[in-house]
Amino acid sequence: MITPFSVLDTRTKEWKQRKDYWITTYGIQSELGREDTESKSQFWDSSSNVSVFDPTLCELMYEWFVPKGGKILDPFAGGSVRGIVAEEMGYKYVGIDLSHKQIKANQKQSSKPFWIQGDADKQLFLLNDDYDFVFTCPPYYDLEVYSEHKDDLSNLNVSNFDAKLERIIYKSYTKLKENRFFGIVVSEVREPSTTGNYSIGNYRGLVHKTISMCERYGMKFYNDMVLFNSQHQASRVGKTYFDRNRKIPSVHQNILIFVKGNPDIATEEIKGGEFECEIEGKKYLTFRHAAISINPNKLVASEVKRRCISRKTKYKNWQIIGEETRPEIKYVIGDIPFESPLQVCDMIEELTESQCRNYFESNAKKFQHWKRVEPKDWNISYKEMEDLWNLSDKAGGVSIYSETIQCGDKKFISVNEAAKECGVSGERIRQKLKDSNYIDWKYLDNSN
Ligand SMILES: C[S@@+](CC[C@H](N)C(=O)[O-])C[C@H]1O[C@@H](n2cnc3c(N)ncnc32)[C@H](O)[C@@H]1O
Repeated sequence: MITPFSVLDTRTKEWKQRKDYWITTYGIQSELGREDTESKSQFWDSSSNVSVFDPTLCELMYEWFVPKGGKILDPFAGGSVRGIVAEEMGYKYVGIDLSHKQIKANQKQSSKPFWIQGDADKQLFLLNDDYDFVFTCPPYYDLEVYSEHKDDLSNLNVSNFDAKLERIIYKSYTKLKENRFFGIVVSEVREPSTTGNYSIGNYRGLVHKTISMCERYGMKFYNDMVLFNSQHQASRVGKTYFDRNRKIPSVHQNILIFVKGNPDIATEEIKGGEFECEIEGKKYLTFRHAAISINPNKLVASEVKRRCISRKTKYKNWQIIGEETRPEIKYVIGDIPFESPLQVCDMIEELTESQCRNYFESNAKKFQHWKRVEPKDWNISYKEMEDLWNLSDKAGGVSIYSETIQCGDKKFISVNEAAKECGVSGERIRQKLKDSNYIDWKYLDNSN
């Protein structure tokens, strides 16, 4: 509905319609709970003297940067809007706010979001989940002072504010999953100039400080957007400022988007959908998702697809979900299936590939259980093939030689082996094998 350009214009008809939709449909009164706020700002919407976060902005940020049904963390919850929009869009929202009054006012508007009252600096480490998106809007220094509380950022001097904001950003970052986005709305605030405490009113640098704080812990600054607020107030008071000391009235806020990990993987997971392929036991949403997750330098989506449809043994664990390639069983040893002699010598390390090839071709009775078979007679998956391998491993592994004779209750690969074991001559063994009196002495046929 609104194009993802770096300037988001809240003055457009679509934007306002969407905003009204949220406020009227869900009875969002995000201005409630902050009645004691002392606001120095003259630029917010005229309707209330406190800043009210925009539901349309919430909707866009969640739509663009959060996987379906994802979990959203907000260390400075403020009013109800970010929570209600999140829950009504099917996300799980956890918001922390120091102000008891604020939390109460929010909970009256909706019971769906999970609001925690407390100092985010302390509460964040108590959270045990991982989140798919951090989206928040801290106090802008003392532009709005929300309370006298010692932990209230809006109540701190600039250096303590910066230190505490950084800790809260860091702790929020630790709660964010890998390959996810982190969004924070800030704005520049000028040094106040009061009687007897003249200041030139320079900006305090909240925007660039926030960027460095986020980058300090490994997040990458990824999208830089501005929220174009209404000019109504600015045009009312701006002229005074401009004429007096060329201060440009700010009619925007900065929406800073950072990424933790890989934005390509994050985007694939935001788009979501059914898993397309499974590689080495891990499912991926698309071939591209797999390529970037496994090795973005060496793999591309088409190569992942090629490997998934390949029948080569080395790609047996690269599969398209629902179109799994199945092994082409051409060899068996006893009832253990193999696609190639190479697979056999991978399993029976003391044998070489050419030895395995020879045994399959051999007519010797002791290799009678090494057989070539028709692939059409073996309709099994790679997993089933490996399960049979593991079973035979547990049962002592594949026997290279097949017993060819039975002497009483013992079986032997050859007459020589039996003779040595029984301490008699080979001739004696053969006599007993032919002697019908020795019913449990016989030649074995393991060919089937
Ligand atoms: C209201 S928001 C910022 C304004 C923004 N326009 C909005 O509506 O979201 C700032 C919130 O941070 C809260 N806050 C201040 N210090 C805090 C802290 N240490 N931990 C958690 N919340 C805090 C305040 O109570 C306030 O509700």
